[in-house]
Amino acid sequence: MSPAPAEAGARAPAAPPLSAAGATPAPRSAAGATLSPMSAADLDEVAALEAVAFPTPWSRASFADELDRAHARAFVLRRDAALIGYLVAWVLFDVAELLVVAVQPTERGHGHGRHLVTHLFDVARREGATRIQLEVRAGNTPAIALYERLGFHRVGLRSGYYQDNGEDAVLMDCELGA
Ligand SMILES: CC(C)(COP(=O)(O)OP(=O)(O)OC[C@H]1O[C@@H](n2cnc3c(N)ncnc32)[C@H](O)[C@@H]1OP(=O)(O)O)[C@@H](O)C(=O)NCCC(=O)NCCS
Repeated sequence: MSPAPAEAGARAPAAPPLSAAGATPAPRSAAGATLSPMSAADLDEVAALEAVAFPTPWSRASFADELDRAHARAFVLRRDAALIGYLVAWVLFDVAELLVVAVQPTERGHGHGRHLVTHLFDVARREGATRIQLEVRAGNTPAIALYERLGFHRVGLRSGYYQDNGEDAVLMDCELGA
């Protein structure tokens, strides 16, 4: 997971407007769960899941900022109205950056993380991105396993990157095929 963009500072140039989190296609269903663009109505639940999923969670306001960012793409996965997971990414020209993905602790291991990340593959490819990059805590074994399973490779290490515990960040990259 990346630190909240507000904390990380300006890391990338502004992209042309692409209609905020909403350039997402129509919702689709898989394994009884429905994927749709994140909206303001989702923010309380998203922030609540974020708080249980990460040691240094983004705030509700950080997610709200993403909804206003032209190059941000944000999705929620729900089943029977209950939030199962979410993903936030940026698509900036030919590169997408996966900022955060999380699944409810009780729902893990059932393919929902895979569903969210492969949806990002589809969206990023459709918008012209040729690769997706991310950074993840070196000790986050489930996340690294998910990313490697989906074709990401380790391309670098930022030593002591995470301020709360000095943990290293693993940088990963995935080339998007046609
Ligand atoms: C990382 C996370 C999103 C994975 O979600 P998930 O729904 O459990 O993942 P999936 O069930 O889709 O698993 C997909 C693949 O990831 C790997 N994987 C997932 N969890 C794993 C675990 N605990 N141990 C080993 N491999 C794991 C497996 O290879 C799996 O593929 P397979 O089922 O074909 O073997 C989830 O653990 C989570 O929310 N963690 C807390 C938040 C976080 O760390 N996010 C990532 C950093 S932004």
